[in-house]
Order: sequence, then C-alpha cells, then structure tokens
Amino acid sequence: MICYRTTFNKVLFTLLLVLSFAPNNNVFAADGEALFKANCANCHKPDADYTGPALKGWSKRIPSPDWIYKWVANPAQMIASDAYAKALFEKWKPTVMTSFSSLKKDEVDAILKYVDDYTPPAAAQTATTGGEGGETDNSMIFGILTLVLALVAFILLQVNSNLRKLSDDKVGIHRGEPVPFYRNKAYLMAGILLLFAVGGYYVISAAIGLGRMKNYQPVQPIYYSHKVHAGTNQISCLYCHGSAQDSKHAGIPSVNVCMNCHKAIKEYKGDPIVREDGSAVNGTEEIQKLYAYAGWNADKKEYNPDNNNDGTPDGARPISWVKIHNLPDHVYFNHSQHIKVGQQQCQTCHGNIQEMPEVYQFAELSMGWCVNCHRESKVNFYDKKTGEGNKFYSIYEKFHNDIKNHKMDSVTVENIGGTECQKCHY
Ligand code: HEC
Ligand code: HEC
Ligand code: HEC
Ligand code: HEC
Ligand code: HEC
Ligand code: HEC
Repeated sequence: MICYRTTFNKVLFTLLLVLSFAPNNNVFAADGEALFKANCANCHKPDADYTGPALKGWSKRIPSPDWIYKWVANPAQMIASDAYAKALFEKWKPTVMTSFSSLKKDEVDAILKYVDDYTPPAAAQTATTGGEGGETDNSMIFGILTLVLALVAFILLQVNSNLRKLSDDKVGIHRGEPVPFYRNKAYLMAGILLLFAVGGYYVISAAIGLGRMKNYQPVQPIYYSHKVHAGTNQISCLYCHGSAQDSKHAGIPSVNVCMNCHKAIKEYKGDPIVREDGSAVNGTEEIQKLYAYAGWNADKKEYNPDNNNDGTPDGARPISWVKIHNLPDHVYFNHSQHIKVGQQQCQTCHGNIQEMPEVYQFAELSMGWCVNCHRESKVNFYDKKTGEGNKFYSIYEKFHNDIKNHKMDSVTVENIGGTECQKCHY
C-alpha cells in the first residue's frame, strides 16, 4: 500500500514540476503583439503606411493623451467631432477605421506599446540569432528550464531513494536492490503521460491547421495583375466581381468581360512588371494569351469564325484560373451578407488586392478569424428615433430597449447570433 502511495506521489510530483514549466505563451494578460495582429494588422503596420497610417510615433502626433482611447473606441464619431481626426480622415478616406469599443484601456496601451517597441523582423533576427521574435525566445527558455528542472527532479528522486535505502539498511529493514530508473514504473508512467500530452498537442494543432492555406499563391494561366488593373488603372473590384454584392460568390469574370477592354488594349505599355523571383513579365505577350483563350484575331480585329458550330469562336475556351480561397464544404459563407448588408471592405478580408501583382490568400480563413470579427463588428442597427439603419433589425425589441436604457450602445454581429454554430455550419 505504502509502496503504491510513494509511487503515485513521485509521478504526481514530477508531472506537476514539468507541467508548471511547460511552454505556455498565453499566460500574459494583455499581449500587445497578439492583440495588434488580431485587430489592427489588417490595416496598420507599425513602421509603414498601409490601409491606415504607420502607427509608430503615434503618441507624438495625437492632440491629447486621452484622445487615443476615444479614437479607438469610436473613430466615426471622432471624425465628426474632432479636428485632428477629421484631418486624418481627409488624408485616408474613404476608409474609416473600424471601431473597437470592446478593447479595454490596458489592451490599447499594450497594443501601442508593442507598436512603439517594434523592430523589423530582419533586424530582430540578427540580434537574437535565428529566433522568430520574442515569443519563440520565451518558449526556448521555458523549454530549457523545463528540461533542467526535470533533470534536477529526477536526480533528487534518485538520491532520495538511495538515502532511504541506506537508512533502512542501518535500522536493519532489508529492502531489495532499488529498481534501475529505466525499469521504474513511476518514471515509465510519467514518460508515457508526457509523450501523450505533448504528442496529442502537436497532432491536434496539425490536424486543425490541415487545409489552411494562408499566403497560398498559385501560378495562374495568364499573368493577370490586380495591381495594374485595380491599382494603377483604378478599375472597380465590382466591375469584375460584381456578384459579390448580391450573391454568395464574388465570382471570377468571364473572358468576355476582359475583352470589353482588350479588344482595344493590345499592348502593355505601363510600368515594368517583375515576378517575385525577379524575372520580367511581358504584359503584351500575356494579352496575346488572353486573345488565344477568347478566339480573337487581333490583326483582323474580329473573333475567329465558328466553323465547328459550337456557338463560340474556333479555338476559344475558358481560362482555367486556379482558385485561391477555398473554405471547407461544411462552412457557409456569403459575400452579399458581408458586402451589402455588413458593409465590409474587400480589403479587410482579402488584403490590399489593388497592390498585389499576383493574388495570394491574405487571411487565415480559420474559424477563429470569422468569429473574432463577428465579436467586434457592429451591425448597422436600426435606430428607432431617426429611422436610420437596417430595417431588418427593427424587430430586436430587447436591444432597442437596452439601447434606450443605456445598457448597451451598439449591437455586434455576435449579439444577433453571428457566433451560433448553425449560422456558419450546416
Ligand atoms: C479597417 C482598417 C483599420 C483597422 C482594422 C484599424 N485601423 Fe487604425 N486607422 C485606419 C485608418 C484608415 C486611419 C486613418 C483615419 C481614417 O481614415 O479613419 C487610422 C488611424 C489610426 C490612428 C491615428 C494615427 C495617427 O497618425 O494619428 C491610430 C492611433 C490607430 N488608427 C490605431 C489603431 C488600432 C490600435 C487598431 C487596432 C485596435 C486599429 N487602428 C485598427 C484604419 C484601420
Ligand atoms: C479586370 C477584372 C478584375 C478586377 C477589376 C478585379 N479583379 Fe479580382 N480577379 C480577377 C481575375 C481574372 C481573378 C482570377 C485570377 C487571379 O486569381 O489572379 C481574380 C481573382 C481575385 C481573387 C482571388 C479569387 C480566388 O481564386 O480565391 C480575389 C480575392 C480578388 N480577385 C479580389 C479583387 C478585389 C478586392 C478587387 C478590387 C480591389 C479586384 N479583385 C479587382 C479579375 C479582376
Ligand atoms: C476596364 C478595362 C479592362 C478590363 C475589363 C480588363 N483589362 Fe487588362 N488591362 C487594362 C489596362 C488599362 C491595362 C494596362 C495597359 C497599359 O498600361 O498599357 C491592362 C493590362 C493587361 C495585361 C498586361 C499587364 C498584366 O497584368 O500582366 C494583361 C495580361 C491583361 N490586362 C489581362 C486581362 C484579363 C485576363 C482580363 C479579364 C479578367 C482583363 N485584362 C480585363 C484594362 C482592362
Ligand atoms: C468578410 C470577409 C470577406 C469580404 C469582406 C470579402 N470577401 Fe471575398 N472571400 C471571402 C471568403 C471567406 C472567400 C472564400 C469563399 C469560399 O471558399 O466559399 C472569398 C472568396 C472570394 C473570391 C473567390 C471566388 C468566390 O466567390 O469564392 C473572390 C473573387 C472574392 N472573394 C472577391 C471579393 C471582393 C471583390 C470583395 C469586395 C467586394 C470581397 N471578396 C469581400 C471573404 C470575404
Ligand atoms: C471583417 C469582419 C468579418 C469577417 C472576417 C467575417 N464576417 Fe461574417 N459578418 C460580418 C458582419 C459585419 C456581419 C453582419 C451583417 C449584418 O449586418 O447582418 C456578418 C454576418 C455573417 C453571417 C450572418 C449572421 C446572422 O446572424 O445573420 C454569417 C453566416 C457569417 N457572417 C459568416 C461568416 C464566415 C463563415 C466567416 C469566415 C469565413 C465570416 N463571416 C467572416 C463581418 C465579418
Ligand atoms: C462565423 C462562422 C462560424 C461559426 C459561428 C462557427 N464556425 Fe466552426 N468553422 C468555421 C470555419 C470558417 C471553419 C473552417 C476552419 C478551417 O478550415 O480551418 C470551421 C471549422 C469548424 C470545425 C472543424 C475543425 C476546424 O477547426 O477546422 C468544427 C468542429 C467546428 N467548426 C465547430 C463549430 C462549433 C461547435 C461552433 C459553435 C460553437 C462553430 N463551429 C461556430 C466558421 C464558424
């Protein structure tokens, strides 16, 4: 009996020691970097202008220390009432910063501290010999600490059992030779449990990450540049992806849409385009590829004749663009709900497409990503007094009463059920 209890105690002791020092990055309350990445990184970079201004040095620009909390909580209201905010907006319009009324003051402080302390990754890397930044360094230290402590615990336990044997021998209690540690059930058990915990953690996180394709950037059949079209030439996203407004899918334009312009635009004369590997793209050649797909004869300025009677010019075929964004089939996502009703910008979810020569997947498209935004975004709630807002929401009596009684000042997507499983899974 006693024997079992000591075995059990040993296991518990070792496990507790090991676990209490196991790598864990979530212990810090307000983690500026994580908060910044989750909330602000879509639009801000610490040290460069992006959709919004570079944030570094913010404290020297803002009119008063309190300004920052008011701004983050409700930019739209500040733009309407505050001169500095109005000037900012004039510079960055039409984008209005999203409001983050749920962020607490210490969280805003943590974000802005992270921003001010930010050093670009390249510099950080040379300084810390290969780490990926603070977080990885911490887990390295924790990892080493864990190992050292586990070793110390192990040695102490060995010493303890040897001493006990000595003292037992002295009083004349005879015990067998101590079991060597690699056959000691307690150690084996602790080892196996640890393997399970660590292995399980990695297996689960790898399984959840399966099929996530952030930064995916396939080679497309034609080098079609969004930077040239949506950036330099300012063609509206909706010209080509118009169904984003009123259907589930944003859709990819057909060859006809391209030909509306390219019957006339035969050559590319804009700024040189270079691939990421440094090789040059010949825009004019790429336009010729488009003509081949369209069955267009650029010399005669007409479509090829339809000799085989299939209803399209001979040689014409659809362009087989490679799909980049792809949610799993068990998720329901609808563009019109977000564009027309939710009034979200394409860039919030797809990044600055108008600056991308080749499109890549900007967001993670994970469940956490969807849900986080639903927790923070407000719906265009119907205001009974002024009659403004989405009339669909006039039926939410409870929220109207709560707003009237100042129990809440805005309604988030979460409030109307945007985090219920069946809204996204069917
Ligand atoms: C949807 C894009 C977007 C997001 C998300 C966003 N911002 Fe902004 N931010 C802007 C834009 C655009 C401006 C410029 C003013 C304007 O047009 O509204 C701005 C301005 C600012 C300014 C003023 C900078 C200056 O030069 O004085 C601060 C500070 C700021 N944002 C902080 C934040 C913080 C903190 C977060 C995350 C909690 C955040 N922003 C998230 C777009 C965004
Ligand atoms: C002249 C037509 C045109 C315009 C304008 C245009 N796009 Fe596209 N877009 C395309 C074509 C063609 C593709 C498919 C090829 C590719 O992925 O590059 C595409 C692909 C995309 C994709 C990736 C689709 C996938 O496979 O997952 C996104 C996201 C996207 N566009 C967003 C935008 C946004 C945002 C804008 C406005 C800033 C815009 N597009 C403007 C034609 C256009
Ligand atoms: C609204 C007009 C318009 C539409 C629609 C349009 N383009 Fe263009 N395209 C342009 C302009 C303008 C240029 C730049 C010409 C220049 O700068 O010399 C261009 C340039 C190009 C180029 C050379 C530069 C590059 O991006 O590699 C290609 C290839 C091209 N277009 C393909 C397409 C394809 C494919 C489509 C259909 C998905 C399309 N275009 C739809 C106006 C259009
Ligand atoms: C709230 C986030 C969000 C916004 C805002 C958004 N998209 Fe998307 N977009 C997605 C997701 C998620 C997918 C993947 C959909 C899927 O796989 O079913 C996607 C897919 C696409 C595709 C690939 C074709 C398709 O329909 O699946 C295109 C093109 C596209 N988006 C263009 C746009 C354009 C243009 C806008 C702005 C008018 C826009 N998106 C706004 C999240 C968004
Ligand atoms: C940039 C912020 C943002 C992101 C990211 C986002 N959504 Fe939304 N979503 C909204 C907003 C805003 C609404 C509310 C529209 C309205 O006013 O009804 C909404 C509404 C919805 C609704 C309807 C909810 C209801 O109760 O009627 C569904 C379903 C939904 N989103 C699915 C998704 C899925 C799936 C993803 C991830 C692939 C996603 N959303 C990512 C902002 C976002
Ligand atoms: C706002 C939309 C949204 C809501 C609400 C939502 N999910 Fe998801 N869920 C997603 C998306 C998007 C994915 C795909 C993630 C991926 O591919 O990595 C997903 C994936 C999953 C998966 C597969 C495992 C994984 O992470 O890929 C499970 C299980 C799941 N959701 C369960 C739930 C449950 C249970 C609820 C309710 C508590 C819920 N979801 C609510 C959007 C949502």
